[in-house]
Amino acid sequence: MTTFRIAPSILSADFARLGEEVRNVVAAGADIIHFDVMDNHYVPNLTIGPLVCQAIRPHVQVPIDVHLMVKPVDRIIPDFAKAGANIITFHPEASEHIDRTLQLIRDNGCKAGLVFNPGTPMHYLDHVMDKIDMILIMSVNPGFGGQSFIPEALNKIAYARKKIDESGRDIMLEVDGGIKIDNIAAAAAAGADTFVAGSAIFGQPDYKGVIDAMREQLATTGK
Ligand code: DX5
Ligand code: ZN
Repeated sequence: MTTFRIAPSILSADFARLGEEVRNVVAAGADIIHFDVMDNHYVPNLTIGPLVCQAIRPHVQVPIDVHLMVKPVDRIIPDFAKAGANIITFHPEASEHIDRTLQLIRDNGCKAGLVFNPGTPMHYLDHVMDKIDMILIMSVNPGFGGQSFIPEALNKIAYARKKIDESGRDIMLEVDGGIKIDNIAAAAAAGADTFVAGSAIFGQPDYKGVIDAMREQLATTGK
């Protein structure tokens, strides 16, 4: 049986009540908190940094999954590790030295991952599979919550699943962007096991209702 993980993105949470929001979403069944970091340079939006990670850390026990949409990447990694991040992912286009950045994340005690935009080729995986703990497939272009799922992502998920299975390593396969109750099963069928959802969860009044419905959909895949 696949272990499926639901990772609500706090990008769509109420930032004025962030501690309460993360506690509520974990109480509703979230497995991971997805933390979107945008720099108004690599992506055209500006969000949150290590101080906010540190502020929410005492509110939840689940892993904090820091998705870095920043360039350059390396300088900020130790700060997020100190702020309580458990997983740190970055975009290969944003690092001059991918292998070094992956190693830096691990040396700081976190799990490391690469993120693939809709137009980013998957060959960046080729020589670093042994240093990867997570592959994140973007099913929207990064920068904003509430966008529509790009179906081509399903082919990339299937490709990443094949690479992971061939490696024999325990690597999480996450999908991020436009995930809703009605398409989560397709992403799981393609091979994803970790599902980021921002507006689908934090945009709704009943977090548990949404997460339960997502799990019901995942159960239909028989994986
Ligand atoms: C987009 C972010 C996503 C975003 C997802 O750049 O990486 O994590 O919050 O939001 P939804 O689920 O609303 O597409
Ligand atoms: Zn994200």
